[in-house]
Amino acid sequence: MPIQWFPGHMASARKKAAEAMAMTDVVIEVTDARLPEASSNPMIGELRRFRNRPCLKLLNKSDLADPEVTRAWMDFYNAQPGVRAVAISAKNPAEVARIPALCGQLAPHRDDGVKPLRMMIMGIPNVGKSTLMNALLKRKVAKVGDEPAVTKHQQTLDLGPGMTLTDTPGMMWPKIAHDADGYMLAASHAIGRNAVIDEEVAAFLGEILLARYPDRLSARYRLEAAALAAMDGPALIEAVGRRRGCLVKGGGLDLEKAALILLQEYRDGALGRISLETPATRACMIADAQAAAQAAQEEDAEPAQGEADEGGDGGNGGGDGD
Ligand code: G4P
Repeated sequence: MPIQWFPGHMASARKKAAEAMAMTDVVIEVTDARLPEASSNPMIGELRRFRNRPCLKLLNKSDLADPEVTRAWMDFYNAQPGVRAVAISAKNPAEVARIPALCGQLAPHRDDGVKPLRMMIMGIPNVGKSTLMNALLKRKVAKVGDEPAVTKHQQTLDLGPGMTLTDTPGMMWPKIAHDADGYMLAASHAIGRNAVIDEEVAAFLGEILLARYPDRLSARYRLEAAALAAMDGPALIEAVGRRRGCLVKGGGLDLEKAALILLQEYRDGALGRISLETPATRACMIADAQAAAQAAQEEDAEPAQGEADEGGDGGNGGGDGD
């Protein structure tokens, strides 16, 4: 199920972000700690690297993510040049308060008491940019728009002496390369319900939970380990539906309702702290995608080879005639 995303404002938001990047010292990229790569818009990295700007990578909502996996992601990002990764919860003021000092460390040349430190918050929709902005400013500021109808594109505010903070709208990108990324984004509610089907998304989430967090499923839905071991994603949705009495008229299972329960309980953290991807699963996914692309390329090349053989046969035929 390829997921494509064409918000009307995207091209203009990108242009404005590129312009703002020129006047930024540190990019604060907010991602969802449960899916840090899937929730990272590749355009943000491109724009940042083009201008050679350092990045404070915030793995937000870390209160909902698996702490061990988050540690692995921090090591992964901290090994990248110009990147400093921090796991936070934007809802926790003490964690947010560390951010300006961390940005200052990434741009020591601005620490001269003359030039202000200019920070810019970027990220896809729903990762917690507004929550972070409000926590940094210690007051509620109007949200810049993720929706095409909202005209407010950017705002720059003073963040105490010698520091400014620019807020940008949530930016998605035109085509999500890996289906799994689309599912992870949908499961975590970064992509709206109109883009994907809940049951498909819940089945994808179910496969991850069955593979990596069966104990949570056991505890939450009182399902035996042996039964879980025999299930796939759709079977898990059915089991959740039976447990929670999701029935349609006539007594059949309301699978859509069951799917929504599974999704909501993951989103709320009711299933515990869960991460949808790890550096290792991501590396595997990319290797598999590359192998599949290579195989497809080879398959495409084969008929051409066949045609060449046919041509060769013709030549041989001519030779035979000699
Ligand atoms: P955005 O600007 O990037 O679009 O995201 P926004 O701050 O609006 O946050 C999206 C949702 O994520 C909000 O939930 C917000 O409360 C929640 N959120 C943000 N940061 C964190 C965090 O660190 N931990 C947790 N657990 N949740 C976080 P909502 O349901 O839309 O609103 P609300 O009812 O929570 O206010």
